[in-house]
Amino acid sequence: MKKVLITAGPTREPIDPVRFLSNRSSGKMGYALAEAARDAGWDVTLVSGPVCLDPLTGVSMVNVTTAAEMYDAVAEHISGMDLVICCAAVADYTPAVVEGQKLKKTGEEMKLTLVRTKDILGSCREVFGFQKTLVGFAAETQDLERYAREKLERKACDWIAANRVDGTSSGFEVDHNEIILFSAAGETIELPRDTKQNVAQRMLDILTNA
Ligand code: CTP
Repeated sequence: MKKVLITAGPTREPIDPVRFLSNRSSGKMGYALAEAARDAGWDVTLVSGPVCLDPLTGVSMVNVTTAAEMYDAVAEHISGMDLVICCAAVADYTPAVVEGQKLKKTGEEMKLTLVRTKDILGSCREVFGFQKTLVGFAAETQDLERYAREKLERKACDWIAANRVDGTSSGFEVDHNEIILFSAAGETIELPRDTKQNVAQRMLDILTNA
């Protein structure tokens, strides 16, 4: 049985015991990909950040909260995978210090120091030694193709799935998506606006026939 690892959802970066930094990812696209893969007979490991979706049956669910936990979960499960799809909206920065007690307000301004998180997708080749098919996502508000191709190369992916997140009817927090797939071999394949389920199924067909 072929094996796929998919990351999905946002991460949550704690500031203090009651606050965190996160983003608007719903996890729906990653879950749709996991379901499509499961239904196509794949052995699926889904590394999921905190989402409001039901856990999938017939899939190995690995639940994580922070970017660091997601990195560790991928490092632990990546060996033996045939396909890795990094769909999660991982925080790029995390608070330098997590306060042990709830922060009290003081002056009119407050400053929060953030430090970079580790790039999970960008670690798959050189750090984790993954050599099979690697797919990333690029959520962009502008210059979609230029940024997507730059990410494809920088993170040594075989494919990048690019989508616009300009607050319209596809992308974050909605049930539909519209994706352009760019391959390292130079292909460009447009998947027109459709439900995330249908886009996931088409995407998987393309990635696995490649
Ligand atoms: N990603 C990841 N680990 C991170 C950050 C991103 O695995 N710490 C993955 C995402 O899952 C996605 C891809 O990298 O597949 C693109 O994420 P993005 O944050 O848009 O890319 P960056 O390289 O951080 O680019 P920029 O911030 O310049 O847009």
